[in-house]
Amino acid sequence: MSQTATLTKAEKPISYDINIPYVSVSDHSKRNVKYPEYLPTWDKVWFDPLPPFEYQDPALRVQDKSKPNLLSSATKVSHIQPSIGSIVEGVQLNKLSDTAKDELALLISERKVLAFPDQDLIDAGPEEQYAFMRHFGKPNYQPISGSMKGYPGFHIIHRDGNVDEINRFLEQRTTTTLWHQDVSYEIQPPAYVMLGLLQGPDVGGDTVFAATDAAYKRLSPTFQAFIDGLKAVHSSAKMIAHARLTGSLVRKDPVETVHPLVRVHPVTGEKCLFINGEFITRIQGLKEAEFRVLQDFLMQHLITGHDFQARVRWQPRTIVLFDNRSTIHSAIVDYIDEELGAKPRHIFRLCALGEKPSPVSPQTASTE
Ligand code: SIN
Repeated sequence: MSQTATLTKAEKPISYDINIPYVSVSDHSKRNVKYPEYLPTWDKVWFDPLPPFEYQDPALRVQDKSKPNLLSSATKVSHIQPSIGSIVEGVQLNKLSDTAKDELALLISERKVLAFPDQDLIDAGPEEQYAFMRHFGKPNYQPISGSMKGYPGFHIIHRDGNVDEINRFLEQRTTTTLWHQDVSYEIQPPAYVMLGLLQGPDVGGDTVFAATDAAYKRLSPTFQAFIDGLKAVHSSAKMIAHARLTGSLVRKDPVETVHPLVRVHPVTGEKCLFINGEFITRIQGLKEAEFRVLQDFLMQHLITGHDFQARVRWQPRTIVLFDNRSTIHSAIVDYIDEELGAKPRHIFRLCALGEKPSPVSPQTASTE
């Protein structure tokens, strides 16, 4: 029995992240869903810690930077914002050759976030979706979230109704946003991430991204020099403890990893802030109060920097691919009906694990 089974509805802890489900969906949602095979399930499997692996970024294999294999079928490429985010039309991801996928990795590294509307890959099934992402890195298996039966690499995002859960959440929180990099606590966190929209509201449920390299560049040389060599502790312990508290299934022990606070992007060579509010527990060498001030400042800088952000508005059957090293993101749970709760929003996420984050070398560290 979960530790909260005897508590009343009002006393139960609120969701850790209101964007994802922690327990099975209701019968009401089962009737409403367009892709029932993608509803979250909690298979009782156990994952051991990930062993280290060799990683070569596919973008580094590209010979022709104009990306002819990827872009020959594109009918339109429109930028969401000047320096972050593009919408690519005409390209069907499931038709790309391996060379075109390498070029795609390069375009993701350059633009950070790409949206591909009306993708046949959405309807191609989990095997093909899985194989597509395998080109970009090793699959990640989520420690707690709902996944597709038999496909533990699928992280399922699903909201429909959930009126009590959402109301209780908003009684305690001022916003539904939760800015983070995906799975930052792993030794080799995701480099590339795919989000596939199965079903969504007509308006709302956007995903917002901020560029962590542009954010770094806005800091003064003095501040850059201070943070260049710092190391942060990332941990999945709080998320896992919360899952246990609410009676949700846990599939992996907590992972704790020390990463550089500023990481160097392997493709662009840019320095990127590697900080989030979700998984970082401390910064080595700083006292608790100093850590909090630094974390709050950097998070506010990223969250409020609308001049280096892009907001993806989902169109039907859109696939979004983003660079998890040079961005931080949040879902926006604003598609709420006062009586019924959330309108249906259903997305699958696949992560491709990449390199161990590289610190700034003393030769390229900022000097005042
Ligand atoms: C995520 O936070 O990883 C998913 C984003 C979304 O649901 O839009």
